[in-house]
Amino acid sequence: MNNKPLQTIPLLKQLAFVGDNWIAAASGASLYVQNPATAELVGSVPNLCEKETSLAISAASEAFEGWAKTPAAQRGRKLRSIRDFLLRNISDLAKLLTCEQGKPLREAEKEIEYSASFFDWFSEEARRTYGEVIPSPTKDHRILVTKEPVGVCAAITPWNFPSAMVARKMAAALAAGCTFICKPASETPFSALAIALAAEHAGLPAGVVNIITGDPEPIAHTLLADSRVRKISFTGSTEVGKLLMQQSAATLKRLTLELGGNAPFIVFEDANIEQAVRGAMFAKYRNAGQTCIGINRFFVHQDVLEPFTAALAAASRKLHVGNGLDHDTDIGPLISREATKKVAELVSEAVQQGASLRLGGLPDPKGPYIYPTILTHVRPEMRICREEIFGPVCTIQSFADESSVIGLANNTEYGLASYFYTKDLSRAVRLTEALQYGMVGVNNTVISFTEAPFGGIKSSGFGREGSHFGIDEYLNLKYSAAQIEH
Ligand code: SIN
Repeated sequence: MNNKPLQTIPLLKQLAFVGDNWIAAASGASLYVQNPATAELVGSVPNLCEKETSLAISAASEAFEGWAKTPAAQRGRKLRSIRDFLLRNISDLAKLLTCEQGKPLREAEKEIEYSASFFDWFSEEARRTYGEVIPSPTKDHRILVTKEPVGVCAAITPWNFPSAMVARKMAAALAAGCTFICKPASETPFSALAIALAAEHAGLPAGVVNIITGDPEPIAHTLLADSRVRKISFTGSTEVGKLLMQQSAATLKRLTLELGGNAPFIVFEDANIEQAVRGAMFAKYRNAGQTCIGINRFFVHQDVLEPFTAALAAASRKLHVGNGLDHDTDIGPLISREATKKVAELVSEAVQQGASLRLGGLPDPKGPYIYPTILTHVRPEMRICREEIFGPVCTIQSFADESSVIGLANNTEYGLASYFYTKDLSRAVRLTEALQYGMVGVNNTVISFTEAPFGGIKSSGFGREGSHFGIDEYLNLKYSAAQIEH
């Protein structure tokens, strides 16, 4: 790593947040964060271990009763204050995000707005955690159902949306009356720490929010083993999700798992090609292809294969690849050299196995960038069609009829997002029902809204985030049956 630190970045906090203290590691150890575009040092964070993780759990446990009993309207006001902080500081926060993660500033600003939208939405949902009165089968019982916060919740969040994935979990947890501990990805801790700063400005009671930085294993192990932590919410790989689930078994924690995807994007012969290309450009190249809901496999009807591919190639060729801090950048670097190496390997392997490069060359496995790449003549058994690419690479297959493409699209262990384009209403209904995915984009690839339930099925995990369903992940139902005298 180049050891030259970047110029001072506003809102860069280089300490972890536990209780209401900004702390360093007792061991003095640090983790260094580099800008993926330039390898310059962005800053360092404490490399906390078991001891500090336990302190965070104690702080969150002690704060729980008071926060759970705080009236929902008051909790909502605190969340709105966090939202306001994020929006007031959007330019600085976007710059911070781009420095640690690499995405273009424009996208980073959108992400901060997305984060703020979760605090906005859940500030209102806090007041709507209604219970129910259920008609009793007898005349002398009354059945009441109420909702109670789950308790101390821990989140393990990814590097691809380092602000929004913290916000989506934290806002729902706090609104429900839970206290919160977050372990952000080691590559991108600063956006999470900036949210702790927002929480501090909002005057949240000590221990309600804790952001702990460091190597994932000791922290995750401590969170999972401690029975005071009642819930884990994780966004990341299916492999790690399965491990977390296994390790949560001993203390039977509730889980929300947002895991990998392998999104199909289907273009039927009657689709509006221009609209489909616009949708593809967004869902393929957003964040340089590093999204779980990014298109992994294109299926294009044989009658429109050439016009669609040509239009996609023409639009892709215009994209500007470079440092996310440059204002004309459309595609930033991948998060690390290991990431570019993996994408380069997937492309080379596919080409060796018979895929054709329609756009782009074989990627440089050592550089920070992957240029927009289009591969045709790919086959479903190739690794590039089975694994998440997490890079700006389009893989195109053609198909002849609806039933075969449904089979191809569903032929994956994943079930997060899917997209299709057609003008035929009956087909749209049939496809929506037939696609085995948690989310379906119909003539559209914009599916991430705070108002909508984000989540998958099969190996993409379970649980929903955002929407009015999202808060239920942080609430337990309690039912009481009262016997009355007449
Ligand atoms: C993801 O794909 O990792 C999350 C994207 C989103 O919420 O839009």
